[in-house]
Amino acid sequence: MEYLLGIDLGTSGTKTVLFDAAGTPRAAQTANYPLRQPENGWAEQDPADWWDAVCTTVRGVLRQSGASPAEIRGIGLSGQMHGLVMLDAAGDVLRPAILWCDGRTGRQCDEIVAAVGRETLLAVTANPALPGFTAGKILWVREHEPAVYAACRHILLPKDYIRYRLTGEFATEASDASGTNLLDVPRRRWSETMLSALQIDAALLPRVEESAAVTGKVHKAAAEATGLAVGTPVVGGAGDNAAAAVGVGVVRPGKAFTTLGTSGVIFAHTDEVTIDPQGRVHTFCAAVPGCWTVMSCTLAAGLSLQWFRNRFCAAEQAEAEAAGVDVYDRMIAAAAQSPIGANRLLFLPYLMGERSPLLDADARGGWIGLSNIHTKADLTRAVLEGVAYSQRQCLDVFREMGVDVADMAVCGGGGRSPLWRQMLADLYGCPVQTLASEQGPALGAAILAGVGAGVYADVAEGCAAAVQVGQVQQPDAQNAAAYEPFYRLYCRLYPALRESFHTLAGL
Ligand code: XUL
Repeated sequence: MEYLLGIDLGTSGTKTVLFDAAGTPRAAQTANYPLRQPENGWAEQDPADWWDAVCTTVRGVLRQSGASPAEIRGIGLSGQMHGLVMLDAAGDVLRPAILWCDGRTGRQCDEIVAAVGRETLLAVTANPALPGFTAGKILWVREHEPAVYAACRHILLPKDYIRYRLTGEFATEASDASGTNLLDVPRRRWSETMLSALQIDAALLPRVEESAAVTGKVHKAAAEATGLAVGTPVVGGAGDNAAAAVGVGVVRPGKAFTTLGTSGVIFAHTDEVTIDPQGRVHTFCAAVPGCWTVMSCTLAAGLSLQWFRNRFCAAEQAEAEAAGVDVYDRMIAAAAQSPIGANRLLFLPYLMGERSPLLDADARGGWIGLSNIHTKADLTRAVLEGVAYSQRQCLDVFREMGVDVADMAVCGGGGRSPLWRQMLADLYGCPVQTLASEQGPALGAAILAGVGAGVYADVAEGCAAAVQVGQVQQPDAQNAAAYEPFYRLYCRLYPALRESFHTLAGL
């Protein structure tokens, strides 16, 4: 039997899945770890926790499946992007990793723009300087922890630290490196312009490979710690979203996926590098060699519904628990009784500020149009619709950039709701489909491992062999026409309220 191993280093835990060559999961295990917030807005993790989780879960899937380690043809890594791991000359971790969701580097981002210039920054790195990205974190450590910076010899992204522990190699790949603000994204290599403007020594950075390239082999100490066979190839892998794209078959133009998780992500494949001159969405290298992606990220998609449940639906939660059903199913069934437009009620899902396409940390949420007639079902429906409008607004930016989307996969917890998926189909004006397997990033990483190990000729062949589509929902022309005026109005609300949000933030 031939197996492929996908290791997905998430923010809440590491999920390791053993697949066969047809993409069927044979065993899966997750191990969680804490996220530390030593100060308001900071987010850190201990890389040692990641490695422990990898060792536990790899041993777990080997045990569960009964697979012999020698039958694993290759290993692919995927993981949370943007995090900063710093190692000393001996390869030891110097400080906790600073994560993608850490917001301490606002001032460093201003410094980056001042040092490089906004236009050069966008042309070279394809993105604005964002607090989540890695470069600002490096500048922060240099300024606030000079002794750590002086001792630092290697800078790695989270999943690349796991590669180092497995193989001893210092390597990354183009998709994850795209989220550092240091990669020349069109050329897929570290940018001399960025490194010299920010005075970062290139020797600190790992070499950049492509996602399906073999970057190293499992060494003896790692084999002893994990139960893997010495010499098993480890491919580049990809950042979590780029890996998910492979895992859902988004590997050619016209294809995209939406994830309705805590955040809302739309991720589209492009053959050419396409950059939004306003920096409203991200452009990253794809896991497919020589291709790119456009990605939007809204901060409170599933989070908006979760917030509503936690604050206002205690009775529904208790009832659902007693009946042994999912409270979200109950809430959404009630929302389905409210008509399109939720009886003239709109919801702005900016509970965490907003990234795409507004780039405004001070934006805030709200219902607009509340009236004495409104019921909880209307409020719930407005939340679902507001999140769907926010995704459509991101997709409109993609279309403005010439990135067209003809079919859309939907994943994440919110993607399990047929009503929410139908809203997306109606607002996007294209079919949306679910996937047979919910293993997105881990499956994508395993497919990349299969390409590197020669099980598949290329990424497209790997996807054809291993990705199975679920249910497809078509857009409904009547619904689409009914949503359109509400969507147009939604787009006008943030510009009308922007100043008020900023005033509110300063009160
Ligand atoms: C992408 C992003 C997140 C992280 C964590 O830009 O910030 O998707 O990769 O999952």
